Amino acid sequence: MTIRLTRIVIIGVGSVGTATAYTLYLRERASEVVLIDADMQKAEGEALDMQHGSIYCGGTKIRAGTYEDCATADIVIVTAGVAQRPGQSRIDLLVKNIQVIQDISFKLKQYGFNGILIVASNPVDILSYVAWYISGLPSERVIGSGTVLDSLRFRYYLGRELGVDPGSVHAQVLGEHGDTQVHIWSSLNVGGVQVPISERIRGVEDHTRRAAYELIEHKGYTNYGIALVLDAICEAILQDKHTVLTVSTKVAEYHGVSDVYLSVPCVIGVRGIERVIEVPMSDMEERVFQESAKHLYNATREAIR
Ligand code: 2OP
Repeated sequence: MTIRLTRIVIIGVGSVGTATAYTLYLRERASEVVLIDADMQKAEGEALDMQHGSIYCGGTKIRAGTYEDCATADIVIVTAGVAQRPGQSRIDLLVKNIQVIQDISFKLKQYGFNGILIVASNPVDILSYVAWYISGLPSERVIGSGTVLDSLRFRYYLGRELGVDPGSVHAQVLGEHGDTQVHIWSSLNVGGVQVPISERIRGVEDHTRRAAYELIEHKGYTNYGIALVLDAICEAILQDKHTVLTVSTKVAEYHGVSDVYLSVPCVIGVRGIERVIEVPMSDMEERVFQESAKHLYNATREAIR
């Protein structure tokens, strides 16, 4: 009998990559976490820093590596590329980051990666499409981090307004992980009960959409929230939890939308996206969702031309 070890590779060791590595390490998410970066010394330094604390960190081994490590990896997470600067939208990063995701996807194919690819670099929906297109992996195994973080932020701010634990607020954000994101107010409930939506509560929508901009103004980047999201996606996969998360996936006939990566609630398990859940939407929500999809569809077509 062979005991199977699990490996997660992180490509890109900037603020998101390191926060993700540290989260996976603390939570002992896999047997091994491998860091890859264009700057090998930086990857080695980050790994060594965490290795020094290994006595307090249980079983996960962490080290720097190369693309050869992807051949037998269960999950590869891509966080490489440039991040937003104050005043920039996620779409503004496309020109630079498309090159980065193309190179990485070709390399993953070349080294025979056959696991689950999670894309977190922005604009995440378009880059996930490009990664799927180039890598040759089935779409259920190319997952964008999508609006999982926006859904968390929505629930966090709603919980604060309503005076309840965000975990007891059920609400989600769909569509683009970006400015055209769609807040599904029609199914908002607290503990299964619908809540009246005042002007003040409505304000949470804008706050959620602007959350990353606010953080970038304050600290220059965002990293801890997305790190927790990436860990949650890995947990759902490695433990075959069938957790429902609003990740970015290639939708087909979803409220009239096809052949574009965007976020909808997906059941995540060991095969990646096990299935997609159809959310009831009000007419207005459906219209806004279709507009978000159109915006992404056009930008994606432009990108893969
Ligand atoms: C975030 O939403 C910037 O996409 C990143 O935190």
